[in-house]
Amino acid sequence: MKKLVIQGGKKLIGNIDISGSKNSTLPILAATLLFDEKVILKNIPFVRDIVTMCKLLENIGKKIIYFSKKNEIHIFPKKNKKFIAPYNLVKTMRAGVLVLGPLLSKYGKAQVSLPGGCAIGTRPVDLHIEMLKKMGASIEIQKGYIQAKVDKKLISTRLNFPSISVGATENLIMASVLCKGTTVIKNIAIEPEIIDLVSFLKKAGANISFKAKRVIIIKGVNKLNGLSHAVIPDRIEAGTYAVAALITNGKITLNKIDIKNMSNIFTILQSCGAQIKFINTNSAMIYRKKNLHPIKIKTKPFPGFPTDMQAQIMSLMCLTKGTSYVQEDIFENRFLHVSELKRMGADITLKTKLAIIKGVKSLHGAEVMATDLRASVSLVLAALSTKEKTVINRIYHLERGYENLVQKLRKCGAQITTINA
Ligand code: UD1
Repeated sequence: MKKLVIQGGKKLIGNIDISGSKNSTLPILAATLLFDEKVILKNIPFVRDIVTMCKLLENIGKKIIYFSKKNEIHIFPKKNKKFIAPYNLVKTMRAGVLVLGPLLSKYGKAQVSLPGGCAIGTRPVDLHIEMLKKMGASIEIQKGYIQAKVDKKLISTRLNFPSISVGATENLIMASVLCKGTTVIKNIAIEPEIIDLVSFLKKAGANISFKAKRVIIIKGVNKLNGLSHAVIPDRIEAGTYAVAALITNGKITLNKIDIKNMSNIFTILQSCGAQIKFINTNSAMIYRKKNLHPIKIKTKPFPGFPTDMQAQIMSLMCLTKGTSYVQEDIFENRFLHVSELKRMGADITLKTKLAIIKGVKSLHGAEVMATDLRASVSLVLAALSTKEKTVINRIYHLERGYENLVQKLRKCGAQITTINA
């Protein structure tokens, strides 16, 4: 089992090149099932979730050529296809459910393993299923699989999500692009990763427009044309390294970012006293001049503060004088990092959806356990702040979403090593 050993106490100073967005790449990969032509994807982060999604596409019937040094992949159609997303590939990565919409739309059938529970909550897929049913799919759950089929083709219609879901929005957009007629979807998620999926599909010939902030109109086209697309930078990875600069009182320049997609994260960091020097539209330097202030945040769908940054900001608040309040409004159980941070000396009280954090002077090293992707990285950040040694177990969660984390932190002076124990 791999572990991370971190000797904290170093101010992180340097430059970090931000990778392509994992959460943008996953739906775009699923969308390639809608194509009969070659698709080239650039700026792909080679992290475990992406490798798993590529395996899933190969299993369904795509040929993929990997150019890992260039962070690029070429995806080709193949004749023989299977319309199954098996349990062994979907169990580690909930995004596997994103092949449901494209498979149903293109081939009229799909068998997709239910993603099952996961550490941060039950994470159901009822919205994906209900909306696809409204487009004419018949869907049953049998033996842990979503068994879906459609007579002829999915039908365009008017859909209104009862609550906002990133994955269900992506699935329904993908299900609609080849559908005859006009589909209108209300109350959609508008995360930058969804905008990237839309711009990828539009470049390929899809007819998609926004009518209002959360209303999308999709006019069906007959086919999508092969293309080359570079995915957007990973705003959560960038936010994580911004916190690394602040928590170690260092100075990090983030390169290859998209400033406009960072504003909800940067605004919160600035509100607690971070200095952000914007160098150009793709890079910014983060540091602090004085002590940081406590904050009150609630996680919300974009443009609100992202749940995927909640754990990292909590590590920072553990060391900020005064009392901070962090409310998790997206997932029901996304405070698994709290008990581990407390083992490192944090003063946090949980009240259902609310974490009350009283800043302490310093945290101390401990042996801790990573529980999910963002919780794991919050422990790395906490460990970097202490003057002691921390050992983090179960780091495979980190490998799901952070490309070259150890190398990137080391380049800025962190003492961090992976060991097999
Ligand atoms: C995506 C992101 C994840 C991020 C989350 C919220 C990817 C691969 N993952 O996850 O990193 O934390 O958005 O920004 O992009 N829900 C239902 N029924 C459904 C679908 C969702 O009740 O059918 C609930 C979920 O349990 C959760 C909330 O809706 O409480 C939001 O989930 P959703 O936006 O769908 O998240 P994901 O797409 O799974």
